[in-house]
Amino acid sequence: MNPVDPRAEDLAEIHERFTSRAALRDSTVVVTGAGGFLGYTLVGYLVEYAAELGLAGVVAVDRAAGADGHWLTRLAARHPHLEVVAGDVVEFAHGPLAEVRGRVHLVHAASIASPTTYRRFPLETIDANVWGLRAMLDAAREVDLGGFLFFSSSEIYGDPPPEAVPTPEEYLGNVSCVGPRACYDESKRIGETLCWVYATQFGLPVTVVRPFNNFGPGMSPMDRRLPADLASRVLAGEDLELYSSGTPSRTFCYVADAVVGYLLALAHGRYDCFNIGADGPELTVEAFAERFRAVAAELIGYRGSVVRRTSDDPDYLTGNPQRRCPDLTRARAVLGYEPRVEVDAGIARFLSHLVLERDGAMA
Ligand SMILES: NC(=O)c1ccc[n+]([C@@H]2O[C@H](COP(=O)([O-])OP(=O)(O)OC[C@H]3O[C@@H](n4cnc5c(N)ncnc54)[C@H](O)[C@@H]3O)[C@@H](O)[C@H]2O)c1
Repeated sequence: MNPVDPRAEDLAEIHERFTSRAALRDSTVVVTGAGGFLGYTLVGYLVEYAAELGLAGVVAVDRAAGADGHWLTRLAARHPHLEVVAGDVVEFAHGPLAEVRGRVHLVHAASIASPTTYRRFPLETIDANVWGLRAMLDAAREVDLGGFLFFSSSEIYGDPPPEAVPTPEEYLGNVSCVGPRACYDESKRIGETLCWVYATQFGLPVTVVRPFNNFGPGMSPMDRRLPADLASRVLAGEDLELYSSGTPSRTFCYVADAVVGYLLALAHGRYDCFNIGADGPELTVEAFAERFRAVAAELIGYRGSVVRRTSDDPDYLTGNPQRRCPDLTRARAVLGYEPRVEVDAGIARFLSHLVLERDGAMA
């Protein structure tokens, strides 16, 4: 079967489902951490549909954006209303942000998000989620703010007991303040506290999203998060290696679904927090890997198997939550959010995109 690039379909679906798009009219949308996985689809959509949305502009901030051949630079070459700022979020908040004129919507997504990477760079992870966020919230008080979106994480719940799965926003968490995951989990938690303080003390329209295991185009093969790892092994024709017992379970949300949720939350324009992800099926890591294998076999004739290995990282499994599944009642009721891409279809779209990218069939 010849893979078809899903990008145009993803962006068109997002546009159709982003029903509160009028909230962004005449606004400049600023996205920090824009050069990462979620930025790839979020910024891609905002830029490709800027005219239909009536945006004044899009500003993409990422300290990795200065790298040679970064996709943000290539996108900016085709879209004059996209401005790319290569640098740290604190410097951006203290400087260039004040030059953005008119109505502004701010999205703070800058963070190290891969567990493998945040274990190596715990202070940088805390910096982006605490000092970076604080600098953006302070700067937000000085602009004509339409909305502020903070990317928290499902990791703020830690390892919930079975009776708290599916996990609602009211669940307070079972989280360790020390250990290899704490830099991420706890900095997201204090980040949420900052958002609540700025919303209640200064009336800022801050909305918080808690993403649950998104996957799809834009994930770096070097990222080491499970779907990225599986995809890069499929492309290399290698077996799919599992480093856990394979029994922890997750739900997996295709990125186009999730980005609809993030946009609806950005347009919400007042304080609240929302789980964004898929509420089924909850699959063991082994079952998800098996789905990857089967879809890849059918799509591109992949012939590898799912195998067990021991990670060379001694902390790979420390504090790894046993189950992740969001309760989406609030996101459905308040935002009208509804994930609809099935897991197998999402895997097929992800792999198709990577195959075409590898074969140089995309810009
Ligand atoms: N993808 C998911 O399933 C998921 C789940 C939970 C939470 N999140 C959160 O959503 C946000 C986006 O996630 P992602 O998957 O796109 O992550 P990502 O790692 O792919 O992208 C994050 C980007 O932020 C940039 N960045 C980090 N620190 C920075 C700083 N100080 N200044 C400027 N740029 C900086 C990085 O260069 C990177 O490009 C993150 O805050 C993450 O914690 C994502």
